[in-house]
Amino acid sequence: MILSIPDILPADALRRARERLETADWIDGRATAGHQGARVKNNRQLPVESPVAREVGTVLLQALARTPLFVSAALPLHILPPMFNSYSGGEQFGTHVDGSIRTIPGTDKRLRTDLSCTFFFAGPEEYDGGELIIEDTYGVKSVKLPAGHMVLYPSTSLHRVTPVTRGTRLCSFFWLQSMIREDTKRSLLFEMDVAIQRLGADTPGHPSVVQLTGVYHNLIRQWAEM
Ligand code: NI
Repeated sequence: MILSIPDILPADALRRARERLETADWIDGRATAGHQGARVKNNRQLPVESPVAREVGTVLLQALARTPLFVSAALPLHILPPMFNSYSGGEQFGTHVDGSIRTIPGTDKRLRTDLSCTFFFAGPEEYDGGELIIEDTYGVKSVKLPAGHMVLYPSTSLHRVTPVTRGTRLCSFFWLQSMIREDTKRSLLFEMDVAIQRLGADTPGHPSVVQLTGVYHNLIRQWAEM
C-alpha cells in the first residue's frame, strides 16, 4: 500500500522547521548509502548527528504520533530518527531498494525496514522534477506532494527520485519497523480500521462497532510482533 498523509505539520511549524534546515550544514548524501545505493545516489543530506536534524526530526515524530492516519496505516513498533535530504541542480537518486536492516544510531539495536517515509518540506510549485517514482506490485506510481504532507510506502519496493532541474526539493526520509510485518495484513487492518471509524461516525452506538473493534484487536493479537 502506498498512502499519502496530508497536513502533518501546521504551517507555522513547517516554516520554522524549514528555516532551521536552510541554515544547516549539508554533506554528500552517499555518506549513508549502501554499496548499491552509493552508485546511483547524487544529493545532499544532513549528518545524522546534526543538532538541526535531531531537533526537526523530533518535531516531525511528535507530529506523526498525533496523526491517527499514520498510526493506523503504519502500526509502528520502532521508528528510525528522521534524516533530511536536499536535491537541486540536476541531482537525483537512481533506482534502488532500501537496505532491509538498519542500526539505530548511537545504539547497537537493529531495526527491520518495513515502511519507508518521505515528508515534503517544499511544495511542488517550488521545483521541477524531483518526483519519487515507486514501483509496487500494482505498477509505477509518481509522488510529489504539497509541503507538510508525507508518503508512506513499502520498503520492499524499487524506487528513485528524478533529477531536480529547477529549485530545491527538501525532504525528510526515514524508515520504520511495523508491528505487522506483512504489507497485505497491515493493509487489511488499515481498511478495517477506516471502515469501523466510518461506521461509528455514521451510526453512533451501533453494536457492530464494538464487535468489529474486537475483531480488529484480536487480529492484531494474532499477527503483531513486538
Ligand atoms: Ni530509498
